[in-house]
Amino acid sequence: MTVAPQFAYRGNELYAEDVPLSRLAQEFGTPLYVYSRRALREAWAAYRTAAEGRNVLVCYGMKANSNLGVLNEFKNLGAGFDIVSGGELARVLAIGGDPGKIVFSGVGKQAAEMQAALRAGVKCFNVESEAELQRLSQVAQAEGRVAAVSLRVNPDVDAQTHPYISTGLKQNKFGIAIDIAPRVYRQAAALPGIEVVGADCHIGSQITETGPYLDALDKLLVLIASLAEQGIHIKHLDLGGGLGIRYKDETPLPPKALLDQVFDRLDAQGLGHLQLVLEPGRSMVGNAGVLLTRVEYLKHGEARNFAIVDAAMNDLLRPTLYDAWHGVEPVQPRDGDPAQTYDIVGPICESGDWLARDRRLAIRQGDLLAIMSAGAYGFVMSSQYNTRPRAAEIMVDGDRYHVLRPRETVESLYAGESALPW
Ligand code: LLP
Repeated sequence: MTVAPQFAYRGNELYAEDVPLSRLAQEFGTPLYVYSRRALREAWAAYRTAAEGRNVLVCYGMKANSNLGVLNEFKNLGAGFDIVSGGELARVLAIGGDPGKIVFSGVGKQAAEMQAALRAGVKCFNVESEAELQRLSQVAQAEGRVAAVSLRVNPDVDAQTHPYISTGLKQNKFGIAIDIAPRVYRQAAALPGIEVVGADCHIGSQITETGPYLDALDKLLVLIASLAEQGIHIKHLDLGGGLGIRYKDETPLPPKALLDQVFDRLDAQGLGHLQLVLEPGRSMVGNAGVLLTRVEYLKHGEARNFAIVDAAMNDLLRPTLYDAWHGVEPVQPRDGDPAQTYDIVGPICESGDWLARDRRLAIRQGDLLAIMSAGAYGFVMSSQYNTRPRAAEIMVDGDRYHVLRPRETVESLYAGESALPW
């Protein structure tokens, strides 16, 4: 059993949909990212079903996986996009995405990025500080445009997730503290070039409970009511992303479980007319991808056994950075062999270069392993450290597959570099 139904064993072979992963490894080499189109569609469908009959805009948090092939899939399904940089804006425009469905998040937006987003006509800027509000007002005036704005409010709730991916606490750099939000809203409403349209929060990532969301929502509802008393009427409420997935044995938070409760509270407050915006990233792509890697060497030691594979922290940073757990599945299991306990490590010259620890596996040199749940924050966080070309990305669709991004060449890694000319 694997965590994602689109990556399942048939006989003695792990498949992506109807394609054996060993075939892809043979054709494209390893390390290799493989995505399932069906898994993307199912993740989308879970949000659509949960939003049935309601005014909900799902803006895919594209930082999780911004390959144009993935974006195009979600665009065709009707998604908008949550962007955090001018670069991400360019990607959405490159696939012909509708700027009217883009929300622009991020704590450090530069003037040029604001300008590009205004020219494109994005739906909303999620503003994170008073200084950003001032800058946006200036840029909008210079452009002769009006920037639609939500304030990203920091509701000071504990998302009960890893500290690096928790964002809604007072000590985090994100958002505008909820107690000063009413004053900043008044300021925004009075500024030229700014139109207040919404309220926004994003409390963290890989959240598996509804509690933190509902705590944040309750605080936002109080804020929205106080704004209305002051004549500031918003049109949408953005609850960010953050829904958790199953990596190991977590109980994921299905969109419907959350949205049913959100709608109940909105209705109870007479705010059922508000558009609900969501910014899910991980839950749209996380279990739709695996990272394929080959065992280069087995090293049996007194203290530990190592499986040294051809993928590394530069390909998948999550274990190194967050101590994250990813499943490891042999692509062609050796049921007859005795299992041993291995640390799965890469070839990079860092002790932090590991992908998994203490896994019972029956493996031999040359075997293929699938690192599971690698569709979110996998390729996008990869680097070329140790002058390692970044992996190729493949999308499987039934029994067909397509190269979304070829493997980088070594030469391309230093093209453009040069020695001093004197
Ligand atoms: N909206 C905003 C403003 C965000 O900052 C994020 C993620 C999202 C939406 C999407 O959140 P999601 O649905 O994916 O949880 N690299 C880390 C995760 C960092 C998340 C950053 N913000 C990881 O690999 O776990």
